[in-house]
Amino acid sequence: MNAPHELPDVPEAVRRLPIRRLRIDLSTGFPRLWNGGEAFRTHYLNALSMSFPIGEQFFIDSVRKGVAMLPPEQQAAWADEIRGFVGQEATHRFLHGQFNAELERQGLKNHWQGWAAWRIKRGERMHPVNHVAVTAAYEHFTAVMATSLLRNPHMLAGATPDLALMWRWHAVEESEHKTVAFDLYRAMGGSERRRRLWFAYISVQFLFESSLQTFINLWRAGLWWQPRTWWQAARTLFGPRGVWATSFLPLLRYLRRGFHPNDLGDADEMAEWLRTQRDAYSIVAG
Ligand SMILES: [Fe+2]
Ligand SMILES: [Fe+2]
Repeated sequence: MNAPHELPDVPEAVRRLPIRRLRIDLSTGFPRLWNGGEAFRTHYLNALSMSFPIGEQFFIDSVRKGVAMLPPEQQAAWADEIRGFVGQEATHRFLHGQFNAELERQGLKNHWQGWAAWRIKRGERMHPVNHVAVTAAYEHFTAVMATSLLRNPHMLAGATPDLALMWRWHAVEESEHKTVAFDLYRAMGGSERRRRLWFAYISVQFLFESSLQTFINLWRAGLWWQPRTWWQAARTLFGPRGVWATSFLPLLRYLRRGFHPNDLGDADEMAEWLRTQRDAYSIVAG
């Protein structure tokens, strides 16, 4: 590990992370093919959602453990930012928990959370700097995918309106708090090498697990054998404005020495979304 850094100079505006309550109701359920009637787009996002509640709890636990490792005089300076991060992730967990419960009612099975639980148990005794590095790596994934989701409305074209709102709100907040785990990792003295190695590991794991859970969802829904499912998959993943084309290079930027999440440069778009959707949420804290 490197010598601990000073608290990074994060702009005040970035430090303020409001906790929002979204005005949606998932209690009445939603259609099986809620994302524009498309099998692949629906079950790919369903798979991602399945990883969120356990993953986001891990992120919350990691940053709490990480902050506790800092000298007491620094911990106070981090309090607001950590409170905002925890509040946002806890709200995401809650809504995606409701969303996932409906998926279960629809007959889908969440295997990803079991894989994640096993890994979290195995890594329990690692130094917290590793937990924060893993969190920062996942947060880069979510921030890049968030930008891609906002810039490419076709990913949610025809989606049930409350669900489209939920995914975009989550995306915006992921972008909003994308620096927290990263800056904390630096403040803990985590090295560039360790940061990049964890990112490489997480990338392989994420690609494998998201693909497998998506396939399992399609299989359980009885849709995996339909040629149009795979045509949709090719278009969604590898089309000119697909996930790969819009995310691959921004993801790789994490491997650059000296990278910082603010380099993604998407703050204006996120602020614009929050402004135009002001009626869709209330701010409960922050
Ligand atoms: Fe989240
Ligand atoms: Fe996050």
